[in-house]
Amino acid sequence: MAYQHLLTDRQGGVERLTLHRPDVRNAFNDGMIAELTSWAGVLAADPGVRAVVIAGAGPTFCAGADLTWMARTVDYTEAENIADAERASAMFRAIDSLPVPVIGRIHGAALGGGAGLAAVCDIVVAEEHAMFGFTEVKLGIIPAVISPFVLAKIGRSAARELFLTGRRFPAAHALDIGLVHTTVAPEHLDTAVDAVIKEVLGAGPQAVAAAKQLIADVWNAGSLDDAMQLSARALAARRVSAEGQDGLRAFLGKRKPGWSAS
Ligand code: COA
Repeated sequence: MAYQHLLTDRQGGVERLTLHRPDVRNAFNDGMIAELTSWAGVLAADPGVRAVVIAGAGPTFCAGADLTWMARTVDYTEAENIADAERASAMFRAIDSLPVPVIGRIHGAALGGGAGLAAVCDIVVAEEHAMFGFTEVKLGIIPAVISPFVLAKIGRSAARELFLTGRRFPAAHALDIGLVHTTVAPEHLDTAVDAVIKEVLGAGPQAVAAAKQLIADVWNAGSLDDAMQLSARALAARRVSAEGQDGLRAFLGKRKPGWSAS
């Protein structure tokens, strides 16, 4: 599918998505939000994909909401503004719930919704000089639609400090709070992303999807009893699956399982 604000590239089971509005540092406008939502919907239904990498074109990963576009929303009615925010929420949710590992490749800066995008990635690799920030309060707004995803990722304590100050923080701090998983020198960014892809391709694709679903289900479980029940069922289903049986027998037989790409 052709997009105006996104570039996509598929090599084998790896889908690489590049945010492509470099002149405005890949800021989200309504068009890009619609395209990202649609892209995530298509991908979620594609059994051929095993990993996704999200990157940004130009000098920066993503500068968050397009402030020129957002300034125009002063003329929207309250209902229009709510509908607009809900479309952005739906976009973050669509990426958050993709059934394959989503790897964030962060360079330059990830600010506001750009940091929110990092939060909905499963594994985030950042160049060590990258800068992060939930900077919305500095603009008189709040990090609202990203908050469910960011809070789930970094917890309340870090969010209270970062949401309330809006301060920019370095990749090292993003690593400390769990927003980022690996930091590397800029020249090693792609190698580090490729290493994550290799790990993912060495795992059972249905097991990876089930593990991602398990995290969401346990997080959303109403009680420990519910979590224990659903996790036991999830494991039982994997044990008897063709993929689970292949994985276990491959180990015992000292061979590679059928899904292994390496
Ligand atoms: N929305 C709209 N335009 C943006 C933008 C945004 N969020 N962020 C940057 N731009 C535009 C700038 O206005 C500038 O436009 P111009 O060339 O017409 O002057 C262009 O992108 C380049 O920005 P610049 O600041 O010169 O680039 P930089 O590489 O030196 O710095 C950032 C990049 C992302 C660090 C910096 O642009 C920035 O801090 N942006 C604001 C991010 C922000 O507060 N986001 C929160 C949104 S809720």
